[in-house]
Amino acid sequence: MISGRTQLYGVLGHPVGHSLSPAMHNAAFEALGLDAAYVALPVAPERLPEALAGAHALGFRGLNVTVPHKQRAAELCGALDEVSRLCGAVNTLRRAAEGWEGFNTDAPACRDLAQAAGAGPGQRAVVLGAGGAALAGAWALLALGLEVKLAARRPAAAAGAAARLRAAFPAGPAVGAVPWEAAGGEAARAEVLLQATSVGLAGAAPGALPASPRPGQLAIEFVYGDTAFARAARAAGTALVTGEALLLRQGALAFTLFTGRAAPEPVMARALGAAPRAP
Ligand SMILES: NC(=O)c1ccc[n+]([C@@H]2O[C@H](COP(=O)([O-])OP(=O)(O)OC[C@H]3O[C@@H](n4cnc5c(N)ncnc54)[C@H](OP(=O)(O)O)[C@@H]3O)[C@@H](O)[C@H]2O)c1
Repeated sequence: MISGRTQLYGVLGHPVGHSLSPAMHNAAFEALGLDAAYVALPVAPERLPEALAGAHALGFRGLNVTVPHKQRAAELCGALDEVSRLCGAVNTLRRAAEGWEGFNTDAPACRDLAQAAGAGPGQRAVVLGAGGAALAGAWALLALGLEVKLAARRPAAAAGAAARLRAAFPAGPAVGAVPWEAAGGEAARAEVLLQATSVGLAGAAPGALPASPRPGQLAIEFVYGDTAFARAARAAGTALVTGEALLLRQGALAFTLFTGRAAPEPVMARALGAAPRAP
């Protein structure tokens, strides 16, 4: 029930009607008996600054941001955590007195799930992509002690991402870039293959990946749904971290940042499973 004291949360995107975050967070509020509500807020890119200022003025306690706002929102935050500074992208905004504190929960979500699936020091990983998700995924694997090679269709983007990561982990495991065409060969020698391009995203232009999961590997897919990469991982019998698992974990971490409470992950998982999907 909405009361006079209901605390407000929301997700800003463009479009955002397909977002599963309202179902996930509202189920968690209900399970914990919190007087709070979470709504989807469609915001055109050019109106993001006024939307963030307006949500703060209206008393919103916390926000998530999704495509295409993750980078611009980071620039509009008053403070950023270490990972969002590195990635130049936020997905979670927590209310502070004067503005918004920005966090990136994709990276620790990936770290938690990769670790639970057996990723660890001394292993090698290939990361496909050089955008925000690739940086978050590579951060997670470096934090776990894996060597990381990034491959992207634009070599300069992969080299730039590798340089940012090297600066963030100066004494950490090796991180570098390999040509897109060489990623298949590199991946054949790696224990972990992480897919963080937009290939496979519903509605995105189709594309071909240079590497596919092989038996014995850990495959991590950032894109939601029954993607060709996820199907290949299942066919190869590899361990697979899915886009849905990452969505759930990043949402649980955001919930704790918002409320200071442990997230009821099983409740959130059930809500994700039951939520209607966009066609
Ligand atoms: N499961 C989760 O919780 C979660 C969290 C974050 C992101 N994601 C998903 O991860 C994906 C990437 O997100 P992002 O924020 O990193 O996006 P982004 O910053 O736009 O980066 C997308 C990356 O994919 C590459 N790419 C796009 N189309 C390609 C193609 N046809 N062939 C090869 N490379 C291609 C881009 O290369 P160019 O720069 O050359 O275009 C870029 O490196 C999205 O589908 C997003 O929904 C999921």
